[in-house]
Amino acid sequence: MKIVIIGGTGLIGSKTVARLSVKGHDVLAASPSGGVNTFTGEGLDMALAGAEVVIDLANSPSFEDKAVLEFFETAGKNLLAAEKVAGVKHHIALSIVGAERLPRSGYLRAKMAQEKLIRESGIPYTIVHSTQFFEFLGGIAQSATVGDTASVSSAYFQPIASDDVADVMADVALSQPINGVMEIGGPEPFRMNELVARFLQLANDPRKVIGHPHALYFGTALDDRSLVPGAGARIGSTSFEDWFDHAPPRRSGVAA
Ligand SMILES: NC(=O)c1ccc[n+]([C@@H]2O[C@H](COP(=O)([O-])OP(=O)(O)OC[C@H]3O[C@@H](n4cnc5c(N)ncnc54)[C@H](OP(=O)(O)O)[C@@H]3O)[C@@H](O)[C@H]2O)c1
Repeated sequence: MKIVIIGGTGLIGSKTVARLSVKGHDVLAASPSGGVNTFTGEGLDMALAGAEVVIDLANSPSFEDKAVLEFFETAGKNLLAAEKVAGVKHHIALSIVGAERLPRSGYLRAKMAQEKLIRESGIPYTIVHSTQFFEFLGGIAQSATVGDTASVSSAYFQPIASDDVADVMADVALSQPINGVMEIGGPEPFRMNELVARFLQLANDPRKVIGHPHALYFGTALDDRSLVPGAGARIGSTSFEDWFDHAPPRRSGVAA
């Protein structure tokens, strides 16, 4: 089966490509560096020819409110239109647990706009809502830092290893569309400030972390339920310690 992975060179994309390729599928890792660009439409028709499944794992190069909305809306429209022409049978996207509860965040508003286009496209789909990746802890710290101090929300979240996310994306690609949302999360809830502080300490980063219930997370306040998945979520097996010890972590920089 031909499976196109948009953003197939990214963190989750490259791991998903690897999992589906070893099963013998015809997997195309599509991204701008390989001449396929969902924002401009470049290379899309050729990439999608003969594809049965498309997994969209692209991310916006900019997180600025207007730019990120424009990215997910334009890329979503271009991709779904090309999928209709190609007769794609299952569109899969990766979004974020709690996105629908946090409209004050420009990034999460953009993810909801992406989801709306998918729901209205008429193409059978599955939307996976994941919690934050452990690999994103550096990005959370970075976005909250002024000088040598990071002011981080003290709300609960339940982060997950990117390997566990990629396992799910590969399983979903080989399953029937659910025309709805499924949730995935990590094995353990943490207070965000506490895990960010632990992560920085293990990474020998000297920044100080201050936890505050009203500290903003990418433009929005959180409560203890905002980013935590519901009871039916699929739970990844990798603990924070296992991830930190064994994965080649991306330990700094902003990326979501
Ligand atoms: N970080 C988190 O905690 C988190 C949690 C839940 C869900 N998510 C979602 O997970 C998804 C994947 O995140 P990630 O961290 O794996 O991303 P990433 O590592 O930043 O990779 C981004 C990918 O998008 C591609 N891309 C950028 N612009 C593109 C365009 N115009 N057309 C096609 N592809 C384009 C890049 O291609 P090049 O390599 O060619 O530039 C790259 O392959 C995102 O949609 C994000 O919203 C993230």
